[in-house]
Amino acid sequence: MRVYDLIWKKRQGQALTADEIRYLIDGYVRGDIPDYQMSAWCMAVFFQGMNFEEATALTLAMVESGDTVDLSSIPGIKVDKHSTGGVGDKTSLVVLPLVAACGVPVAKMSGRGLGHTGGTLDKLESIPGFSVTLSREQFLKQAAEIGIVLAGQTANLVPADKKLYALRDLTATIESIPLIAGSIVSKKLASGADAVVLDVKYGDGAFMKNIEDARRLAETMVEIGNRAGRRFRALLTSMEQPLGYAVGNSLEVVEAVETLKGNGPSDLTEISLKLAGLMVAMAGLADDPETGETMVRQALSNGNALTKFTQWVAAQGGNPKIVRDYSLFAQARVVRPVTAEDEGWVERIDCRELGLIAMGLGAGRNRLEDRIHPEVGVRFFPKIGTYLKPGDVVAEIHARSEADAAIAKKRLKTCIHLAAQPVRPEPLIKEMI
Ligand code: URA
Repeated sequence: MRVYDLIWKKRQGQALTADEIRYLIDGYVRGDIPDYQMSAWCMAVFFQGMNFEEATALTLAMVESGDTVDLSSIPGIKVDKHSTGGVGDKTSLVVLPLVAACGVPVAKMSGRGLGHTGGTLDKLESIPGFSVTLSREQFLKQAAEIGIVLAGQTANLVPADKKLYALRDLTATIESIPLIAGSIVSKKLASGADAVVLDVKYGDGAFMKNIEDARRLAETMVEIGNRAGRRFRALLTSMEQPLGYAVGNSLEVVEAVETLKGNGPSDLTEISLKLAGLMVAMAGLADDPETGETMVRQALSNGNALTKFTQWVAAQGGNPKIVRDYSLFAQARVVRPVTAEDEGWVERIDCRELGLIAMGLGAGRNRLEDRIHPEVGVRFFPKIGTYLKPGDVVAEIHARSEADAAIAKKRLKTCIHLAAQPVRPEPLIKEMI
């Protein structure tokens, strides 16, 4: 086989065989195929796409490039969850204890946040003492003992993705549905769960800007997962505005805890219950997602999910008292309100810009080596359809300095777009695939 021929074949819009795809992935990971040829191939895939056979072959070759996690020692059907990322998306912090409290074993690996969306690992690390670095033995032991564990991805989990993603990032080939699907699903398959629920977001604050692309991505991932012998389902959910109010690591953990106490924002509560209900059904503990939702609702109202969260924090070295005393989190030096200047109904929110504002304050990172400041971020209150009048508090900025807060305040004021007529918001959960 010649790499040149495989690039040519894809450039002409022909399908590659599974052997040809494996040859490319193996050769690239070994270092035999140079970046310039792999970039050309990624660009050919970007323009020509892949059929489901090719996308599945790509995903499986990526899985086989590194270690896989064997969860078979943990009894029961293991169900994982993945979100394609959004602003204020702290659903994992709510969903995982909800399902674990219903008896679904949770043994999850997660990634760090990059760009305008946050990562679950960074959020959890804002809890004093919480460690996401666990040995394989600790990981499996905790899952067996308390039914919930979350750790960072091991260094050798899908090395093909680490190399390919870095290359795509520099060659304008990130936004390719089969390449995104291969990247996400390979990590889910390698992490060992039997079933996976995907939360595929669309809108200004999401990776996929419109619902059509999000639907194609969701369908591709579900198809690959099912062809690989696991059960995958997806929800398409809107990211036209932040989820909940908090954007920033410890602010988000506090909001998740409040949600587990039954006092959470309605959008975060609704999406968490839907995802968790689906996971309980996929684990075989409920006949359908609706019955699953009734079970997780009960785990929320009787306090079992909050107890599970507290156990989880303690098991990973975190201070469990944070559940009762939020002053134990690092506190921002400067907290400043932002008020509305105009009157009208909120028609549109620049959700991505809000994520970038939080990142500018230090809540996120541009590059993986950047340092996170857990205490900073924004609490942003209005939702699409809210009526505002001058003087209403629209946000609260948590910053490290007055200068940072002033910059954030100026940017925040441009994020809210008002209409003279009432505005009806779109439903948060659009479809199930
Ligand atoms: N997230 C991933 O993990 N991979 C992609 O390619 C895009 C988003």
